[in-house]
Amino acid sequence: MKRPILTIAIVATTFFSQAQKKTIDQRVDSVLKLMTLEEKAGQMNQYNGPWAATGPLTNDDKLIDQIKEGKVGSMLNATGAVRTRDLQQLALQSRLKIPLLFGQDVVHGYRTIFPIPLAEAASWNLEAMERSARIAAIEASAAGVHWTFAPMVDISRDPRWGRVMEGAGEDPFLGSLIAKARVKGFQGKGFGNTDAVMACAKHFAAYGAAIGGRDYNSVDMSLRQLWETYLPPFKAAAEAGAATFMNSFNDLNGIPATGNGYLQREILKGKWNFKGFVVSDWGSVGEMINHGFVKDNKEAAMSAANAGSDMDMESRAYIQNLPQLVKEGKVKLTVVDDAVRRILKKKFEMGLFDDPFKYSSEEREKQQWNNADHLKAERDMAKKSIVLLKNDRQTLPISKQTKTIALIGPFIKAKSDNLGFWSYDWPDDSARIVSVWDGVKSKVGTDTKMLYAKGCNINDTSTAGFAEAIEMAKQADVIVMNVGEARDMSGEAKSKSSIRLPGVQEDLIKAMQATGKPVVVMINAGRPLIFNWVADNVPAILYTWWLGTEAGNAIADVLFGDYNPSAKLPMTFPLTEGQIPIYYNYYNTGRPATSDSDRFYRSAYIDLSLYPKYAFGHGLSYTSFSYSDITLSNSTIKSTEKLIAKMTLTNAGNFDGEETVQLYIRDLFGSVVRPVKELKGFQKVFLKKGESKEVMFTLTVDDLRFYNDKLQYIYEPGDFKLFIGGSSDKTKEAGFKLVK
Ligand code: NOJ
Repeated sequence: MKRPILTIAIVATTFFSQAQKKTIDQRVDSVLKLMTLEEKAGQMNQYNGPWAATGPLTNDDKLIDQIKEGKVGSMLNATGAVRTRDLQQLALQSRLKIPLLFGQDVVHGYRTIFPIPLAEAASWNLEAMERSARIAAIEASAAGVHWTFAPMVDISRDPRWGRVMEGAGEDPFLGSLIAKARVKGFQGKGFGNTDAVMACAKHFAAYGAAIGGRDYNSVDMSLRQLWETYLPPFKAAAEAGAATFMNSFNDLNGIPATGNGYLQREILKGKWNFKGFVVSDWGSVGEMINHGFVKDNKEAAMSAANAGSDMDMESRAYIQNLPQLVKEGKVKLTVVDDAVRRILKKKFEMGLFDDPFKYSSEEREKQQWNNADHLKAERDMAKKSIVLLKNDRQTLPISKQTKTIALIGPFIKAKSDNLGFWSYDWPDDSARIVSVWDGVKSKVGTDTKMLYAKGCNINDTSTAGFAEAIEMAKQADVIVMNVGEARDMSGEAKSKSSIRLPGVQEDLIKAMQATGKPVVVMINAGRPLIFNWVADNVPAILYTWWLGTEAGNAIADVLFGDYNPSAKLPMTFPLTEGQIPIYYNYYNTGRPATSDSDRFYRSAYIDLSLYPKYAFGHGLSYTSFSYSDITLSNSTIKSTEKLIAKMTLTNAGNFDGEETVQLYIRDLFGSVVRPVKELKGFQKVFLKKGESKEVMFTLTVDDLRFYNDKLQYIYEPGDFKLFIGGSSDKTKEAGFKLVK
């Protein structure tokens, strides 16, 4: 009786040690050799289940059979240790027992919801953003998720586009650093660790340049613009080791991104030598029919696979057509094999062949469910993301000894609206999410009286609630208002032509201001909004985005001065929608307008100011910082030399605080025109009140490179300007020359 057991044990150990000895590539090949064409197409196929969907769902009553037949390689939105375990068990009933990959949009947190990515970008704090992504990965991986569809690294210059909330704003330099930080955060110490999830840089490419800011719209741009502005964050994500990329819904210069060989094969897998795999966006393979690019699902599968889309999310085009297309010679077997290899490789790297249930542990899931450290980190990230737009007469911070505070507005007691788009609703959310009311309450003493009136709902047309709000306001020493957008007003398919405060909220603010009491307005939103009357009349404004689970606590920290705001806008805030697209790094044109009084025959609107409401990089502090003049190590540098720029920053106000010192350059003349300013560096500098510090930046020719008309990444000798300041529109400047 003992013999067979021993034999099995020996065989198993030998097999195990052989498997250990083999490289992952060899293991991938040995699986690939066993696969039928149908099974290969199965690996390239990704389905949502019949549960919560993030796109138009195709109900499929054969789902379970298909998993068991090896016709599904990955599932999205399957989450939770129990569900992922059950599904994985089905996959293990298939002939080759290839485990499933579970993907999910873990965009800004999973159980603990962090600020929306655009808000986090306002912190300009890369370590904090990496930590936020790390925590999201720890929590999601504990719930069986292997793969997040994040970071979204689309540059956008159009706040009408609802998806700006998911990205890092308008700047390619800042966006690239953030892309790297997020990829590092999600992927942690690398695959094989149970708390690492695969990142997915999306949406490749140029999705953020949708014409008119209308989601899913066409994109038409020069290749130089593509390389210079829209590709850098993707390149950075690839360099940081992002395991996957997602292509995009838009067509780029007439070719849908999903069927775009230039993007996926030539750039990503060619020039950038990307070794991971590319997933389509939801249904984007099949949607090429609507684009007018292919005539049916079969042609769509052919076009997407040949162009380098390795996995088909929810179009069912691959599973239904790839085997036949290979038989007909329309898609080469090598194309399919390459895609399957890339997918299997990730499954091996994630350790799923060794233990398919590695991520589906109820115990680990439970441990991460109420993690106090994560909430602490969320509160920290949230306060770092709040932008102080205006603070006249030192209205902020509010004294904790204030006798009576009127808290007014539709968001004061809001809970889930603090989470924003792309966040999860959990059954106990109302107990967990901290509202502004709760946050202020735990901050002030019992001597402070808190009054509340909602005033109006978010989208109200009625002013019926104003009277009560005015009544409360009259009794108060200070009025704190929280207004803005509901969580589903910015996000996917949430493009808007008017980006004003919804409903009668601005009128409510006017009514509060009319009481003569000091008013602080906090604006929740997923995009830059337009609120000119407020900006011009109310003394203090905080941009509070959607800050996540601990929103109310973070806000209270800032309101009462326990935290001095240091965030800076990662996107320009327009004065009116008519200025859009508006961004700081524009070209000068042949007839630049130099001021609002110099618009004659200039590139300007005759009926609109040149200037945005708030510039890129703007953000105040409770203290004030003064910038000395810049000194340069040399006024001329050779291409082999470094340039050192120094200035002294002084905290000239009454609070300790942190400043984000920004460095911009301008290449004055070039073989192609260059932007009036380009961000090339920044440092976060903390100074006690009265303290000064020398701030130093080092530049090399690599910081002066750009894509020329042949798409070569070069630098050119010539004259440059260098700017240092606390926002893109308030800088000191110095000049230097680059010689050969
Ligand atoms: C469509 C979105 O564009 C994409 O960002 C997301 O990852 C997928 N749906 C899956 O939810």
